Amino acid sequence: MATRRKATKAATRAAMKKTAARKAAGKKVMKLKPKPAGKRAAANGGLPKPSTRPYGQAGKALDGVRILDFTHVQAGPTCTQLLAFMGADCIKVERPGVGDITRGQLRDVKGADSLYFTMLNGNKRSITIDSKHPKGKEILDRLIKHCDVLVENFGPGALDRMGLTWDYIHKTNPRMIVASVKGFGPGPYEDCKVYENVAQCAGGAASTTGFREGPPLVTGAQIGDSGTGLHVAFGIVSALYQRVRTGRGQRVLCAMQDGVLNLARVKLRDQQRLAHGPLIEYSQYGEGIPFGEAVPRAGNDSGGGQPGWILKCKGWENDPDSYVYFITQAPVWGAICDLIGKPDWKTDPDYATPAARLPRLGQIFETIEQWTMTKSKFEVMDICNAVDIPVGPILSMKEIAEEPSLRKTGTVVEVDHPTRGKYLTVGNPVKMSDSITEVKRSPLLGEHTEEILAKELGYGEQEIAEIKSSGAITAPEKGARAAAAA
Ligand code: COA
Repeated sequence: MATRRKATKAATRAAMKKTAARKAAGKKVMKLKPKPAGKRAAANGGLPKPSTRPYGQAGKALDGVRILDFTHVQAGPTCTQLLAFMGADCIKVERPGVGDITRGQLRDVKGADSLYFTMLNGNKRSITIDSKHPKGKEILDRLIKHCDVLVENFGPGALDRMGLTWDYIHKTNPRMIVASVKGFGPGPYEDCKVYENVAQCAGGAASTTGFREGPPLVTGAQIGDSGTGLHVAFGIVSALYQRVRTGRGQRVLCAMQDGVLNLARVKLRDQQRLAHGPLIEYSQYGEGIPFGEAVPRAGNDSGGGQPGWILKCKGWENDPDSYVYFITQAPVWGAICDLIGKPDWKTDPDYATPAARLPRLGQIFETIEQWTMTKSKFEVMDICNAVDIPVGPILSMKEIAEEPSLRKTGTVVEVDHPTRGKYLTVGNPVKMSDSITEVKRSPLLGEHTEEILAKELGYGEQEIAEIKSSGAITAPEKGARAAAAA
């Protein structure tokens, strides 16, 4: 850098000398024109002037970004739905007559797209293309030229088998970003197909979830699928940003194993701490049970430095969710002692300090539970939060679906669908002050095929008629009927 700066200065000096010499010799000197305003802005970091529109009315963060959405099931669709919430135009390519397999999986309304599909594919458009049909390939070529990002989560090698290798795509559109979700990164398992729970197990989450005396457990939160979708979305947005500078696309890969491990990062932290002694915040330490070579399952122990546990609340005998997560954060220990009727624990050397409490956590939480069992989880929440004690009610999905504050913020949204009627979905969990999300229903299979062919790809009426009769966008009769009846 410094050498380049020196060379530029020297060149400028040489040019000035030359101009002075021409002037001295009475020769004509070219005058530099002032730069037009646009060029001045470009010189000023290339940034446009700030919008004068009020916040929330200046479009959406990813307006103008076109996504060729080749995703299916959950991991990929989570990613593209988030991008669509942010304003990207997601063109979902589906197999004619069949579509994303989840359209028909776990169906609750006969003949209508399942909630599995509708809740992961909002705000997108659907086009049906047989990617292995010659005419279908031609349409895909136009889409590759038209779009900024291709996202896919096929089994390993499937995109290449369609003829859509990185080299081919990059040659067709050097600006295109090609993002993939795979189960594993390069290595011994790279050719394996992977679903959610496989990733939870291979990413280290399952071995550290559950109770010590029980088997490994998977979690309900889809950290393998939706978690990886989130990581890929982050990769895509970063690649789009880098493209502003470099002018070229790149490949983005997120392996589900890697995504899960990233979310289980603190457990790899604990693995390394084990080499230096027991994990004193794990309740097994207080119970005098020795640690093995690997991070054990920690039940409901808090993963951080503040001990916590799940405690019963009033009505737990009949309500499986009448529990609260209670954290004995050190700075509010005095308030906890007062609440549970143990003021003497504030000064008792066996309880007064965090270190003294560690070997007694089981007994401490049993005592706190005697108090929480006299209150509902919401009463515990109100009473504890009033004195800054961190607690969390165990909310059932029913309670979440009915929670008015989540409806108000757009986190839980009701949308209408032409064949299944109204359904609830999760809106954009990320709230932005200048990019407001409008949650729209998922598309029907191939709902936008003609619209995309005509308006985005420029096919004329005659050409569309030919494409239709070629079989590239329509399913063979039998397949379509079977899929509709499923
Ligand atoms: N036209 C024609 N063929 C199409 C098509 C279209 N529009 N869309 C997909 N296909 C074909 C593919 O070309 C591929 O065929 P091929 O294997 O004969 O080349 C096939 O459909 C899809 O294969 P695959 O993705 O392997 O589907 P699958 O149902 O056998 O496996 C997964 C599903 C999820 C296990 C697999 O896709 C996978 O491991 N994905 C990566 C990891 C992942 O995302 N997992 C989480 C899913 S939530």
